[in-house]
Amino acid sequence: MAKMATSLVETGEDAFRKIFKLYKRKNPPPDFCEVIDFSKCGTNEKIVPVKLNPALVSDEDAAKVGLHPVKDWRAFNLQGYPGFIFITNPFIRGSQPFWIRQCLKIYPQKPNVCNLDMHMSTTDTQDIWAKSVPNLSCTSVRKREPRTLLERLRWVTLGYHYNWNSKTYSSNHYTQFPAELQLLSCQVATACGFPGFNAEAGILNYYRSDSSLGIHVDESELDHSRPLLSFSFGQSAIFLLGGTQRQDAPIAMYMHSGDLMVMSGQSRLLYHAVPRIVQADQDVAALGIDHWNWQGSAGVEQVSEKDWAVCSKYIHNSRINITVRQVFGEGHSSPETPHLPGQKKEDQTEEKPLKRRCISDQLPTKVFI
Ligand code: OGA
Ligand code: MN
Repeated sequence: MAKMATSLVETGEDAFRKIFKLYKRKNPPPDFCEVIDFSKCGTNEKIVPVKLNPALVSDEDAAKVGLHPVKDWRAFNLQGYPGFIFITNPFIRGSQPFWIRQCLKIYPQKPNVCNLDMHMSTTDTQDIWAKSVPNLSCTSVRKREPRTLLERLRWVTLGYHYNWNSKTYSSNHYTQFPAELQLLSCQVATACGFPGFNAEAGILNYYRSDSSLGIHVDESELDHSRPLLSFSFGQSAIFLLGGTQRQDAPIAMYMHSGDLMVMSGQSRLLYHAVPRIVQADQDVAALGIDHWNWQGSAGVEQVSEKDWAVCSKYIHNSRINITVRQVFGEGHSSPETPHLPGQKKEDQTEEKPLKRRCISDQLPTKVFI
């Protein structure tokens, strides 16, 4: 029988790493029976249903960005993780395709920054979507190397661009944060009790079926009193939430398409990781574009059949994660004249180090051409 996470390790040195490796393991696959599934919400004393205040966001505002009325959201806290909120897919049926399309077609566009920029010219990464559409495949990546640019996309940064070398947000490298994503983030943050949230930076992660995201803490944002929002689309994933120390054993949970996670308060600076992508139970292509009566507001619009055909092919074996962060505290100057609080305005070179890993793929053991 496959080993279960809790029998594998007690809290102690490298507890997180051991559990990370367990869930990442291909052969033999781990036992998933201890993984919390909020969408099934089995009886578990750790899961605490929480009622969000529906008066904070109007039903009309929620609908503008494709969300159900807050009164219908199913939200949960986790015992022992204050400030952690999990909301199972609050998206109106038919609205997820819009966000998926934005992540694949719009957000990778210049002036946003992506992993492909590191080894390609701006002209080569100019229109990832158009260059990829003719050759996009839905075959499992385990069987071959990803061919198209879209399949090789691993991250995109928005707003204050995250600098992977200095491991900081560059206060002098800001491009306009997408208005509709700012609006979506605001509604979610407000519903969770964080009015006035300012979506200043976004990191989009693109996972193939064998990708994982290493153990890290998101601490480079300067105002940790602001929540970190996370949106999941496409294939499911196992998310590990640990403690403030590397050696604290993490708890495992599924993230399915449409699920939201809010890390705030004491949970804002906890270690976490994504060891594994798992095939979704539901057919994500069946998310469909024809179920929602679009109001045509806030730039949120119906996705064309043609675009959805590409998106559904992509998410057939991939997961997209959007994390939205407020980098600076309240009262920070406008993005045109950014500066780091506590520093002189002209001093924009000093940067705060951060331990954050980016997505890695397992190299295929065998390559079939
Ligand atoms: C991150 C992160 C988790 C996920 O981008 O910092 O932790 O669900 N993402 O992909
Ligand atoms: Mn993170």
